[in-house]
Amino acid sequence: MRRILHMDMDAFFVAVELLRHPDLLGKPVIVGGSGEPTQRGVVSTASYEARKFGIGSGMPLRTAYARCPEAVFLPVDYPSYRAASQKIKSILSRFSPVMEDVGIDEAYLDISELQDTSKAIAQSLKREIYSRTGLTCSVGIAPNKLLAKIASDLDKPDGLTVITRDDIETRIWPLPTRRLWGIGPKSAEKLLKIGVESIGELAGLPKETLIARCGRSQGAYLYQAARGIDERPLVTHRQPKSVGRETTFQRDVRDHLTLEAKLIELTKLVVSRLRNRGLRGRTITVKLRFSDFKTHTHAISLAKPTNRFATILNTALSCLSRFELTKKVRLIGVRVDGLTEAPQDKTADP
Ligand code: TTP
Ligand code: MG
Repeated sequence: MRRILHMDMDAFFVAVELLRHPDLLGKPVIVGGSGEPTQRGVVSTASYEARKFGIGSGMPLRTAYARCPEAVFLPVDYPSYRAASQKIKSILSRFSPVMEDVGIDEAYLDISELQDTSKAIAQSLKREIYSRTGLTCSVGIAPNKLLAKIASDLDKPDGLTVITRDDIETRIWPLPTRRLWGIGPKSAEKLLKIGVESIGELAGLPKETLIARCGRSQGAYLYQAARGIDERPLVTHRQPKSVGRETTFQRDVRDHLTLEAKLIELTKLVVSRLRNRGLRGRTITVKLRFSDFKTHTHAISLAKPTNRFATILNTALSCLSRFELTKKVRLIGVRVDGLTEAPQDKTADP
């Protein structure tokens, strides 16, 4: 029987900030943008105290401020969160070599081969992470990834939930369909229209109905998922599909020099990321979002992949020059895809 563990850090960005601002413990704390709630930007994450005010990831900082003016707002500091993340992932990989890294604060581990009970493994993992980083996480263990991810969320924060096949009816079926991997707000809405609110209700629908309503592949997936069936293997070597950075201007701009300067800054970040990961890319895309929220892109593909700064920058600037700047620009971004792994001995192009 497979045993898959899913780990997700609690209020991750905020938790890392609290390590260096212990005075803020127990207060509503919000990490997002430049940390200035009167400026543009969105909430990356909110402490559990701030969540009580209805504040959550993705919400504009201004809205968060309106809901809780006494909250403490902090700027996003990715390097610190990435450093904490790497420490956590290296602890995880010592428990089992079969690990799937899914994001800055979560991962799956295949623990099928370990001797201890699931609960004992989870306890020792949580203890190890806490003692080495001072951070808490929530852990779910189940026969597959689908159920493990749901389980890790059931008892947040600092949770530990073990789910077996026998628990599906009692613990999974009462949950809303949104909790299933692959069901976003739109799919949930669609299901609600046919009277399906919980995973159990979903499991009550015949396969043909689901396929008729949601299409062959999504329908077949939902039929399995509602029964807690998921055979997906762990993906142990994930290569990013693209590396990109974007930023929203404090004030919309039309001035070409300002756009160029920002593009240079973003391209520097993208190139250093490519080099750090030993990657090269072939297609460079520049994206502009205008003041009316319309988004346009221009892309250029090179003859061969590179991570040479001058080449990528020149290509990005050519992309930029292809835009007609009739409206003011709200956001600019640059992305490199068509990635290939650079040879071990030569990770950076001169
Ligand atoms: P999550 O694990 O979704 O959230 P969380 O760790 O803050 O809180 P929870 O206890 O509910 O797990 O995301 C991990 C980090 O990713 C989060 O701390 C900040 C970042 N993030 C964003 O920057 N924007 C987003 O929209 C989301 C959802 C997360
Ligand atoms: Mg988290």
